[in-house]
Amino acid sequence: MDPFVVLVLCLSCLLLLSLWRQSSARGKLPPGPTPLPIIGNILQVDVKDISKSLSNFSKVYGPVFTVYFGQKPVVVLHGYEAVKEALIDMGEEFSGRGILAVAERANKGHGIVSSNGKTWKDIRRFSLMTLRNFGMGKRSIEDRVQEEARCLVEELRKTKSSPCDPTFILSCAPCNVICSIIFQNRFDYKDQNFLNLLERLNENVRILSSTWLQVCDNFPPLIDYLPGTHNTLLKNIAYTKSYVLEKVKEHQESLDINNPRDYIDCFLIKMEQEKHNQHSGFTIENLVCSVSDLFGAGTETTSTTVRYGLLLLLKYPEVTAKVQEEIGRVVGRHRSPCMQDRSRMPYTDAVVHEIQRYINLLPTNLPHAVTCDIKFRNYYIPKGTTIFTSLSSVLHDEKEFPNPKVFDPGHFLDESGNFKKSDYFMPFSAGKRICLGESLARMELFLFLTTILQNFNLKSLVDPKDLDTTPVANGFASVPPSYQICFNPV
Ligand code: HEM
Ligand SMILES: *[C@@H]1O[C@H](CO)[C@@H](O)[C@H](O)[C@H]1NC(C)=O
Repeated sequence: MDPFVVLVLCLSCLLLLSLWRQSSARGKLPPGPTPLPIIGNILQVDVKDISKSLSNFSKVYGPVFTVYFGQKPVVVLHGYEAVKEALIDMGEEFSGRGILAVAERANKGHGIVSSNGKTWKDIRRFSLMTLRNFGMGKRSIEDRVQEEARCLVEELRKTKSSPCDPTFILSCAPCNVICSIIFQNRFDYKDQNFLNLLERLNENVRILSSTWLQVCDNFPPLIDYLPGTHNTLLKNIAYTKSYVLEKVKEHQESLDINNPRDYIDCFLIKMEQEKHNQHSGFTIENLVCSVSDLFGAGTETTSTTVRYGLLLLLKYPEVTAKVQEEIGRVVGRHRSPCMQDRSRMPYTDAVVHEIQRYINLLPTNLPHAVTCDIKFRNYYIPKGTTIFTSLSSVLHDEKEFPNPKVFDPGHFLDESGNFKKSDYFMPFSAGKRICLGESLARMELFLFLTTILQNFNLKSLVDPKDLDTTPVANGFASVPPSYQICFNPV
């Protein structure tokens, strides 16, 4: 036989075999677009706008469907009903973390974001308690956020009303709040240690959200051949960890068990209490990874939201004026805004909610995984399957929020101007994996935005009508287009 014919026959057999293997696994999983061998549905997914692609699929396959990223099946949940049924009603089963292969290599399942099982439960519970102010010394979290808000305003004053891109200054503030909680004190915005930390963090977020990485993640062997980025990522993580480790040693030397100063002190005390427990999750390794997780999860998310929020306030001066009127009436000029003010500021509260709803920061959430074999709406989903939940489909639901693509604080107000809650408000996700920093983040958003508007009038260089506020989708996060703004002292 002609060698060419033999080759073609062999290839066809391989192809059929692989199709058959995929379709037999597919039989039980929810339906979805037919995957190609090896590359799955990757050609049908726009990696720059995954959320939109998934929303397109849902129109054909319904609210529960399967997409193959390479060989890996991902079950996608689209729309409030399916997302709520999974994350809330079956919270325990859907509480696993499905994590990027690169993150897996860096953290090896330590810490909070990428851990699972008992370690995750123990450290998460402990961190929540600590962030909620149980026994972190004399200074409250709110106190620390207020201090940072005042420093932020001083830093913005230094721009002397000249136009600037606020990205850098706005990323300092949330990073510094975490520093204050973890290391006891904030840093000066020019402190070299602080700038190093911030820079490596920013670089990692850039690498992690690059299209390349999203694609390569489905083909783990490729990661090792990705020029540079993978190594840079690991190098940056190693740098951050060694800095944290150094700080941990300083803390160990000056620890007073009756007087914890910050998160590290609380963790060290917990380690001491659990030292006879062989299976304790409270180890130095987990301490260092948890601290990096708090930085990684708490800096860019909050700063992007504030930066996007200011862009929206520039675009809608009538909204800004109403917020400033409310600040003037409730807070005045002579003291800092505090969290107690929020219940008396329904309009401002609605604006902050609408910012988060509109910008839809993490459209497909972080990936989850099911912790055991389960039956979901008559489909069988095996243990460990990766789950994407479309927060975008919830935050931009047309019935709950008429004209979801329009920025309108009215989405969170009733007829008499009172704040109106919504179960569809899920920018922090829902259920057992819900953002650990939710209350801290909401405190930062409220206090940073109100303190800025108490002290400055915002001015745009171009006519507000010409400002573009459509997100620049990048992999798994929505970021605002870059813009210039002037902070004019009031
Ligand atoms: C506007 C700001 C923020 C947004 C929109 C946000 C959103 C989210 C989302 C959607 C998740 C994934 C939840 C899930 O897997 O279902 C998450 C997880 C997490 N967030 Fe946030 N977050 C913000 C700020 C923060 C801050 C300030 C911190 C710092 C304490 C933080 C710490 C975490 C941690 C540790 C996790 C992992 C939780 C776990 O896996 O158990 N986040 N966040
Ligand atoms: C979604 O579908 C619309 C209309 O069919 C199409 O124009 C668009 O390119 C699709 N988007 C993605 C990201 O697949």
